[in-house]
Amino acid sequence: MSRHERGPVARLLSVNVGRPRQVTWNGKAVRTSVWKLPVQGRRMVRNLNIDGDEQADLAGHGGEHRAVFVYQMDSYHYWEQQLGRADFTFGQFGENFTVEGLLDNEVCIGDRYRIGSSVFEVTQPRVTCYRVGIRMNEPRMPSLLVAHHRPGFYFRVLQEGEVGAGDEIVKVGEGPERLTVADVDALLYLSGHHSRKELERALRIPALSKGWQSSFEAMLQQESSTGAAEGNSGLAEQEPPPAWTGFRPMQVSRIERESNSIFSFVLVPTDGQPLVAPLPGQFIVLRLPVNPAAPPLLRSYSLSDLPGADHFRISVKLEENGAGSAFMHSHVHVGDVLDVSAPHGSFTLRPGHDPVVLLSAGVGATPVLAMLHALAAENSQRQVWWIYGARNGEDHPFAKESLALLQRLALGRSHVQYSRPDPADHVGVDFDAPGRLSVAALEKLGVPRNGDFYLCGPTAFLQSMRDDLRKWEVSPEHVHMELFGALESTTPGMAQVGHTPHLPEGPPGPGPSVSFARSGITVAWDPKFESLLELAEACDVSVRWSCRTGVCHTCESGLISGSVSYQPEPLDMPAPGKMLICCSRPREDVVIDC
Ligand code: FES
Repeated sequence: MSRHERGPVARLLSVNVGRPRQVTWNGKAVRTSVWKLPVQGRRMVRNLNIDGDEQADLAGHGGEHRAVFVYQMDSYHYWEQQLGRADFTFGQFGENFTVEGLLDNEVCIGDRYRIGSSVFEVTQPRVTCYRVGIRMNEPRMPSLLVAHHRPGFYFRVLQEGEVGAGDEIVKVGEGPERLTVADVDALLYLSGHHSRKELERALRIPALSKGWQSSFEAMLQQESSTGAAEGNSGLAEQEPPPAWTGFRPMQVSRIERESNSIFSFVLVPTDGQPLVAPLPGQFIVLRLPVNPAAPPLLRSYSLSDLPGADHFRISVKLEENGAGSAFMHSHVHVGDVLDVSAPHGSFTLRPGHDPVVLLSAGVGATPVLAMLHALAAENSQRQVWWIYGARNGEDHPFAKESLALLQRLALGRSHVQYSRPDPADHVGVDFDAPGRLSVAALEKLGVPRNGDFYLCGPTAFLQSMRDDLRKWEVSPEHVHMELFGALESTTPGMAQVGHTPHLPEGPPGPGPSVSFARSGITVAWDPKFESLLELAEACDVSVRWSCRTGVCHTCESGLISGSVSYQPEPLDMPAPGKMLICCSRPREDVVIDC
């Protein structure tokens, strides 16, 4: 007997497959393949799928490292007892293989098994998702699977072949480090499990899928950085805790015209107390008393100059039908006092030696200009590319300022394009080329693909640039974006419909006020909603989520002011200044960066 064949025999009990189907959940259509049915006879397993099986959402499931999902009969019995259920059938947990043996606390990442004529390798635990809750008719299921250390796991197919119910499962190789599926799952999702040693062990397992490796790398970096932020950087980007909660009065000390439509406002503390210097790229939220008879408007603006402790500078573009920007441009004067939040946001300049590409259009120049200031102030030796698109010379802000900063850099380069130059604009003097910015232009300029790309500008510009940078093989981890206004939604399995945010139907609720700052919506809380996520959905506020039960942190958002209570309690609490909207309710008036 070889050393891999000891212990009770593990066996494949059922092979289950399913194709995407549409189900209705909470009144919405959801596309899912979580319903799997057992097959008769033998089935071919290929690199990406079992014949007859297809994943509905390739962002969360499927791909080479998640080709086959495995769940154990031992866990079936466990959940029957825990949930008082006796109605489970094969494929109940959305798994392809229902197995006897191969427990989550015994199987290690990197272990290899022969089943039938196929060979498999264990790559990662199941990724939590609300659809298993739909399938089980138990919304808490994504959280329970993690909290009870029974997530199940994925196989990569090392050798294609046929499998069938009744096949013996033979271990043919052991992963290094001997980290079990349950250990690795807890390392990512459960608080108190972020030990540096364990993270390093996990990263030494080549079989661990890329996504999980990136999460553990981010967590390790968080561990190593001095003054590391709280929160879980493996699940969501982290930032230092805000310097203050809520709003602080600040006085307008200067107003300057930057272009036809952009004015800068310099704000200083009214109490003379120094500010905590923001990180280059962060934004603040202003509470604007536009109409005394209505709740104040909340508007987010990026800080646009060298982060310092004595002032903030924002630069505001006058938008068509923009009540906030119209108020700033027409009613705010030097000496006025405004309510200002602490700086927030994780769109910030990363340290390192790689080239930096600051790529922006229109008023999107503001956060990347703060980064350019920071690079110039530290005499950075990095290659720095300032790539900017404007309509014409009249709409070209910060032209002199950016040029002066680039001249202070050893390796600063600039390229400016005008989409509609005026006759008075001279190519080679005011701008470098006509037309819109494109990746083809970057390639021609010799912009390096291995740089850190920071993008800010109108939504269409960001989307097309991001897609084109991917096609140009820039690694997605090196592309950082800041969106003005609503963030892109993440609603796995559901069609995204771009509605304008609005107040929810029906009379206002009796609860505290809830403001979604990016969406410009303020609404009274109604306890008929289970969570702030449900309220946001009722308002068509752009939201991001996956598990809806406080596990995955996809819904993590900035909490600008106020406090929330949780039900259920998240498995790992977000950092101060952050919140999970999927499982929280307001305790008092809240302002959320959503
Ligand atoms: S959606 Fe997963 S934690 Fe909120």
